[in-house]
Amino acid sequence: MDVLINVFVALHIIGIASLLGGFLTQMKAMGAGAARFVPAMLHGALTMLVTGVALVGLNEADDHHVNNIKIGVKLLLLVVILALVYVKRDEEKADKGAFAAVGGLTLANIFIATLWT
Ligand code: HEM
Repeated sequence: MDVLINVFVALHIIGIASLLGGFLTQMKAMGAGAARFVPAMLHGALTMLVTGVALVGLNEADDHHVNNIKIGVKLLLLVVILALVYVKRDEEKADKGAFAAVGGLTLANIFIATLWT
């Protein structure tokens, strides 16, 4: 079971790479107000949701402690990220505030995951 959990942690990290990487490629354009939500960001956010839920289930099944408040906060932030990316995925130019919010919330979730012990 530990191997399976670690495989899902790896997939979870691939999801972060896609979501945050997509954001980082658009940072210069964001400064000029021309950033867009690239497909990698939507796919990364969906990957985070699927692998995150699977990690909760696998950890519970293996009797590992899961911090439900921490997971709840991460889920809430991801729902906001996913909603923004999904709704605005076809816009040629994303609103600067919404785009910056997705990057900020993604970073917040990374620090919540690693610092909230
Ligand atoms: C943008 C959104 C997210 C980011 C950036 C993120 C980031 C991370 C990172 C860096 C880790 C590995 C570090 C660690 O083991 O503590 C991790 C683990 C984990 N994540 Fe996420 N995550 C996100 C969303 C979610 C969601 C939505 C869920 C659940 C619904 C979730 C559930 C978990 C679980 C269960 C673990 C295993 C370790 C633990 O108990 O904290 N994550 N996440």
